[in-house]
Amino acid sequence: MEKLEKRPFATSLQGSRIQLVMSSPQYTQQVFDYIQRDHRLGGVNYSWVVSLEDVSKHITTEPENEFKEISYLILKEGLAVGSMHVHTISYSDHKAEVGYGIEKGEEGKGYVSEALQLVLSEMKRLGFNKAVINCDKENACSIKVAERNGFSQEGLLIQDCIENGRFRDSVIFGKLLQ
Ligand SMILES: CC(C)(COP(=O)(O)OP(=O)(O)OC[C@H]1O[C@@H](n2cnc3c(N)ncnc32)[C@H](O)[C@@H]1OP(=O)(O)O)[C@@H](O)C(=O)NCCC(=O)NCCS
Repeated sequence: MEKLEKRPFATSLQGSRIQLVMSSPQYTQQVFDYIQRDHRLGGVNYSWVVSLEDVSKHITTEPENEFKEISYLILKEGLAVGSMHVHTISYSDHKAEVGYGIEKGEEGKGYVSEALQLVLSEMKRLGFNKAVINCDKENACSIKVAERNGFSQEGLLIQDCIENGRFRDSVIFGKLLQ
């Protein structure tokens, strides 16, 4: 089978309650603000971010290669409240991983699921065969996002990586798109 043709992801995707826009330096302050709101409420999104500079380095260096990793921001009423990423993209295998996060105060409203559905539709449009979610076995909220959006559990990787100073077991979820 041929490699999947590399075509660009849409720069913006419109949902009924939220919008996804590709992350860019113009959103640096907004991203810093939502991460701060998240941390104040005990959230763990980008736990390593302590300054505006941390965000600006991340945003300017991340989209080096538009075919390696796609970072979208979740905008609610025009303001950034979370992010959605397509990463570990394999054009040879027609698949990619998706990752997500939303500030604590906007959790439990279905915004991440809406954003995930937008990204899955875009991946389908671009010809991807499969989306994968790799989550911490202890991250019940993330596991629920995968299940709620039609992913099936395909495996469990024991002591898959070190995260926050401990070995982490990872649950692998997959969803066929075509
Ligand atoms: C994991 C995480 C993204 C989940 O966010 P979330 O807001 O719970 O996810 P969803 O958008 O799917 O929202 C679902 C919840 O909204 C509720 N909801 C309300 N209105 C809804 C609607 N219109 N549509 C769907 N769900 C809705 C659902 O009932 C559900 O609540 P429940 O879990 O109490 O049953 C969030 O907890 C987070 O950012 N965590 C930190 C970062 C992280 O761990 N990322 C994952 C790494 S793999």
